[in-house]
Amino acid sequence: MKIKIRVPSTTANLGPGFDVFGTALSLYNEFETEYVPDSGETSFILEGEGKDSLPKGEKNLVWQSMQETFKFLGENKYNLRNLNIKINAGVPLSRGLGSSASAIVGGIALANALCEDKLDKSQIADLGVKIEGHPDNIVPAVFGGLCICSKDETGDRNAIVHLPIPKLKAVLCVPAFELKTERARRILPESLDLKDVVFNISRVAMLTAAFCSGDYLLLKQGMQDKIHQPYREKMIPAMNEVFEAAISAGAYGAFLSGSGPTLAAFCAEKVAIDVQKAMVERWEKENISAKAHILDFDTKGIFKI
Ligand code: HSE
Repeated sequence: MKIKIRVPSTTANLGPGFDVFGTALSLYNEFETEYVPDSGETSFILEGEGKDSLPKGEKNLVWQSMQETFKFLGENKYNLRNLNIKINAGVPLSRGLGSSASAIVGGIALANALCEDKLDKSQIADLGVKIEGHPDNIVPAVFGGLCICSKDETGDRNAIVHLPIPKLKAVLCVPAFELKTERARRILPESLDLKDVVFNISRVAMLTAAFCSGDYLLLKQGMQDKIHQPYREKMIPAMNEVFEAAISAGAYGAFLSGSGPTLAAFCAEKVAIDVQKAMVERWEKENISAKAHILDFDTKGIFKI
């Protein structure tokens, strides 16, 4: 039996909603597995993004997440000698588009499918968050759509609110350079100024109101942030200038995608090409080459194909 699963890319934070807001996007990774009990020969094939750099076998995050799932489910018949695994990655690595979350969710979903789908989506999300550490990419990768994610005090369970899917396009401007989330988190301060916290609370309230009411004019302010973007800006040349270029070209709001370095803007379909061009051209002025994607909001999350 061959199992093939598609998992979306994601963008997290959406400006002020650090570790809380995330949405699934229409750029995908595909994961495939087949149980081959008697073949003696198995394969681990990587295609697409990271095909030459990602580890094959035990060190691969998809495989590690499959193993965590087998352990969680008390299943011990599967190993790297009786499973074929193939990963076809469309999501660029270390760019703030949830490629690790997608790999974790893909691994859990493959293992779960081999084990008669014992876990439902909430359990997949909880296990994924345990492996990844933060919920804002994992949760939308599992469920699709635009999500508010909140870990409980133990960190074991996640409360999730699904917001209406915005009638917008997401422009993701992906630079050629990588930035690892670990490094982008290390740069953050251990404590924050109360006035910056209040600033962010007000912006998160506006962000939520914008999506619930469909009044996207609130996004310009609602996507402002003072608790992570100002610190990460040092690693992302002309970040604010690219945001301004997107807004001048008609975007409702712009933000650092997850921990970066991709920059994102939400806009109406009719201005999406202008926003895309403005962002790429502004970065070109800094000698940064970037590829910008105009994406839709994925509404399915994990999807068997
Ligand atoms: N919210 C995380 C961060 C990235 O900004 O570091 C996605 O989990």
